[in-house]
Amino acid sequence: MSDVARRLSTMEHFPIVTSLVRVALGNDSARLSHQVQRLVEALVADGEDAQAEALSKLLNRRSRNTELAPSRLTQSSRAVPLATGLEKLSPQSAVPVDKDSSAPLATIIMPDDVVTTLPLFPASVHANIEALLMEWMNADRIREVGLSPSLSLLVYGAPGTGKTTLALWLAQQLGRPVVLARLDGLISSFLGTTARNLGALFTFANKYDCVLVLDEFDALAKVRDDPNEVGEIKRVVNALLQNMDVRVGRGITIALTNHEGLLDPAIWRRFEVQLAVPKPEFEQRVQIALRSLDSADDSARAEAHLLSWVAEGLSGAELRTLATKYRKRRLFVNAEDVPPAATIAQVASSTSVHIGDDVLDVLQLDEAKQLKPLHSKGFSYADLAYLFDISTKTVQRRVTEE
Ligand SMILES: Nc1ncnc2c1ncn2[C@@H]1O[C@H](COP(=O)(O)OP(=O)(O)OP(=O)(O)O)[C@@H](O)[C@H]1O
Ligand SMILES: [Mg+2]
Repeated sequence: MSDVARRLSTMEHFPIVTSLVRVALGNDSARLSHQVQRLVEALVADGEDAQAEALSKLLNRRSRNTELAPSRLTQSSRAVPLATGLEKLSPQSAVPVDKDSSAPLATIIMPDDVVTTLPLFPASVHANIEALLMEWMNADRIREVGLSPSLSLLVYGAPGTGKTTLALWLAQQLGRPVVLARLDGLISSFLGTTARNLGALFTFANKYDCVLVLDEFDALAKVRDDPNEVGEIKRVVNALLQNMDVRVGRGITIALTNHEGLLDPAIWRRFEVQLAVPKPEFEQRVQIALRSLDSADDSARAEAHLLSWVAEGLSGAELRTLATKYRKRRLFVNAEDVPPAATIAQVASSTSVHIGDDVLDVLQLDEAKQLKPLHSKGFSYADLAYLFDISTKTVQRRVTEE
């Protein structure tokens, strides 16, 4: 192998090797990744750090993009139509508009329009997502045995937990365009217009082989708080139920909400699958922070650990904001004077998101005094040495001294 590496490392056509690796990695093969990893190691051993890093970056990007690749699902099954007689949706298809304001009722998103990565969820959530995707991609096999695939999904969870991203990712995996409608945008102050808008939206989506995504799904339920609106909202909820019943068998519908408690039980029951999207746990927070830091080396890992500890209870979106702020600040501080931990403490104390009091209590201590509590929270001597820019020996001494 090192012979090959030696020859490759002196190769003037290395950009072609990089392109080949990029294309080949797209087809997700664990054995291919393993061989590329061996090549990276051989290049490092030969001192070809720049080339090793180039390949390593491709490898990391691939593993991030395929954390939940439907590897067992074949490409051809994407083409399986979920219903017959559906037309192909294109960006030029005429989206219905609100008659009073002329505002479009939905946006069309083609599979190639967005590059989405599956948000990082706990393993149990990933298992549910994978099971659902299998069902959708193998709808024909399910029908062969006289069953129907579950075509309606309700995704609920706190703001910024990755619901919209998940819906777009699912559609992208299926190779289908998205008809994305925010239900709050369908509500009109004119009697009857809201129900008419809903009808127009569903009629449009039912014509095409697409995934209908209903964002801000609770918007209709919220109107119910107003006693004057009761009669009208009943009509709207009924219209929604009827439209959903018609949609069954026409295609996939994904509804997204932050306020599942506000949903009418009859609507809740209409969905065959209800998926709770939780806030990220420590492990996922580390991965989210690493994505935001755009690195996976040891120093980024130490930073990601501290950011994840600081971000306990935050949503993925809030953590990303925190990590991005940190990354920007590090560009302008003198790294020799300001250790990473000090910048993280600064960012944590100047953010609008709510950082836990116990975390702030530790971060507000003198740096030397932070080491002990952080070590007791699981930070290694090596991580603390990097984060506080001191030697591992000093960390050890301060952690163990009375
Ligand atoms: N668990 C997660 N893993 C990775 N990224 C995440 C996660 N949760 C949120 N994000 C990121 O945060 C950003 C916002 O996510 P998204 O818009 O999908 O959240 P949402 O749940 O739809 O929010 P809202 O309820 O406000 O509509 C995206 O860039 C997304 O990638
Ligand atoms: Mg959203």
